Amino acid sequence: MGIIVNEKCRTITLHTKNTSYQMKIGNLDYLFHLYYGPTIYDADMSYQIKQYDRGFSGNPYESRNARTFSLDAQPQEFTTQQQGDFRTTSIEVINSDGSYSFNGKAVDYRVTKGKYRLDTMPTVFASKEDHVESLEVTLADAVSGVQVILMYAVFEEADIITRAVKVKNAGEERIHLNKLMSVCVDFLNGSGMDLISLPGRYGQERQVERQPMTHHIHTIGSVRGSSSHQQNPFAILCDREATEDYGKCYGFSLMYSGNFLAEAELDQYDQLRFVMGINPKQFVYEVGPGEVFEGPEVVMAFTTKGLTGLSHLYHDFYRSNLCQSKFVREVQRPVLINSWEAAFMDFDDVKLVNIAKAARNMGVDLLVMDDGWFGKRDDDNSSLGDWFVNEDKIKCGLHNLVEQINDLGMKFGIWFEPEMVSEDSRLYRTHPEWTMQIPGRHAVRSRNQMALDMSRREVQDYLIERVNAILDDANIYYMKWDINRSLADIWSNAQPADRQGEVYHRYVLGLYRVMDGIIKTHPDILFEGCSGGGGRYDPAMLSYYPQYWVSDNNHPIDRLKLHYGTSFVYPVSTMGAHISDSGRFIPLRTKAVVAMGGTFGYELDATHLSEEEQAICREQSDLFRKYYHIIFEGDYYRLSNPFTVGNMTAWQHVLKDKSESLLSVVVTNLTCNGPQEYVKAKGLDPMAMYTINDEEELYSGSALMNAGIPIEREVPEYTAFQFHIKKSEQNTEGV
Ligand code: DGJ
Repeated sequence: MGIIVNEKCRTITLHTKNTSYQMKIGNLDYLFHLYYGPTIYDADMSYQIKQYDRGFSGNPYESRNARTFSLDAQPQEFTTQQQGDFRTTSIEVINSDGSYSFNGKAVDYRVTKGKYRLDTMPTVFASKEDHVESLEVTLADAVSGVQVILMYAVFEEADIITRAVKVKNAGEERIHLNKLMSVCVDFLNGSGMDLISLPGRYGQERQVERQPMTHHIHTIGSVRGSSSHQQNPFAILCDREATEDYGKCYGFSLMYSGNFLAEAELDQYDQLRFVMGINPKQFVYEVGPGEVFEGPEVVMAFTTKGLTGLSHLYHDFYRSNLCQSKFVREVQRPVLINSWEAAFMDFDDVKLVNIAKAARNMGVDLLVMDDGWFGKRDDDNSSLGDWFVNEDKIKCGLHNLVEQINDLGMKFGIWFEPEMVSEDSRLYRTHPEWTMQIPGRHAVRSRNQMALDMSRREVQDYLIERVNAILDDANIYYMKWDINRSLADIWSNAQPADRQGEVYHRYVLGLYRVMDGIIKTHPDILFEGCSGGGGRYDPAMLSYYPQYWVSDNNHPIDRLKLHYGTSFVYPVSTMGAHISDSGRFIPLRTKAVVAMGGTFGYELDATHLSEEEQAICREQSDLFRKYYHIIFEGDYYRLSNPFTVGNMTAWQHVLKDKSESLLSVVVTNLTCNGPQEYVKAKGLDPMAMYTINDEEELYSGSALMNAGIPIEREVPEYTAFQFHIKKSEQNTEGV
């Protein structure tokens, strides 16, 4: 059905397979938001809106003596500014006359086939099979000449609607934007809603918090220059009763890697306004006459099928419409071993080859040379920016090292941290002006490194040239792109004093240009993102990298929470997960089961493992390959919540046709002489019969889902179980 315009009622309704989203050009040509939820066909939903004389809520001048129409009480698609709506706004603009005002009226709309694009930032894309329509609605302020162009794309089958926004200065003088939110959704009653977010910290990213809406502005955001470890640009608004399996859930996922803000405001009348976009902190963007400013895209989903249903919508969509890399679908990801926790920066070519030789016995496909191979880098105090091979360490040269690894039948990967510079580096000595540093002040230290001014063209070009030179010098199959500090000292030598409020955003735009110049020009390389673990784990980054390092915390029990939280929006196929020495008393097999909740690999000195341990690893690498299609393509179910006290954590992947499933359980807290525990499967065909781990006994899907699988109690602490559930030819009728 796509986008339906009803000229008579002046409604525009966006339809996906199971949802509808309606706006209306209403009273005085304001654009009202009328509905987002289950399909409503084409009913004009404006019957819901009642108007009263609301004290202290102003009325537009054109309403004359009618006191019942106030923008303060109307649901809007994009807010006005200083027009009597005192809730949080979509926009804050300073007009050329110094006034803070925007009175946007709908002046135009158009529907087109296919997906709109942004010129400066990544967006999701439509594939050939997708039915996608786009809508543009223009709101114009007749006095200032400021125009806001609202963009929508409707992905029918995926049940996804995306939004983005542009501001065009159609006036004669420059204006300044202080705030521009990409999305605004006004709910007529939000008092029964909860807000779910993914806060965290270094080593503990994307933990899950749920809070009831109260009469405040609840904010989620980052001012660290990146989307950050501390918050993720993702929010869920759901019914208070919503569970994993049931209830209305709305998701908002922002395609932006810099400072972001989401605000959820429950107002005086229990209406709920949700806005999300670039964080207004230290954001003042000049838009000259005729110029256009773009805000990032927001990916919205709605379901009545609870939190699992919402995750499935995002997982499916992000697996097919986010990243164009061939490693998303066509080419299976390698099992890798990373040198970081094996050697940190204490390695040379011989050590790396020895690790690779041992890893080959463990079924590993790829060796990654992490931090420490360039400049004079023996610790983290120097050399960032000097992307030249350190031949004191890699004595045989990079080319030869890669050949030696390839001769073992393995592939080679390399680590970079392109955006950063050490004070002790050739690059800094030559170009101190390329660094973010406020004149006359010392820069804030963080891991003893500074950020490059990514907004500068010369910096971007230097990085594209340098990184590409290394990538093209040898047979490199994989690159890990890291960033290890939050930004401070926001200042660009390339911008005049009155445009320093643009630098945070210009950094992000510069970063995307560098990523385009490196990643898009190397379609055969597998890229993994990283920011001291899983900072900056956002959909814009995932449009470049098919996988992202979840956390520097490799402890398998902590990982249960990390994978659980990350899975609310990001598919398992994006989650970098390794077996390491962390968790000394936890069995290797358990570590492997946890790492199979992600892209699976190793991060330890393989030469230190016994033959028996290497054999266990080989067996686990083979199991990962055996289950790869289920893990990467299946529907993911969180079967338990590791944040609540329980005796085990369980999760499950189920192929779309329900023919195969992998159910994993880690026993975390066995009580002495305790009750028998059962894990109930999800997503199976109730009428089908299944085997478990290729054994003869048959179980109906219904039994596995309703009665569950008994979990052996008499096992050592932290034992893990993996149940490979496979449909048999028989169905329940034959039993
Ligand atoms: C932080 C990353 O998360 C680690 O995996 C490692 O690459 C180090 N940086 C290297 O400095």
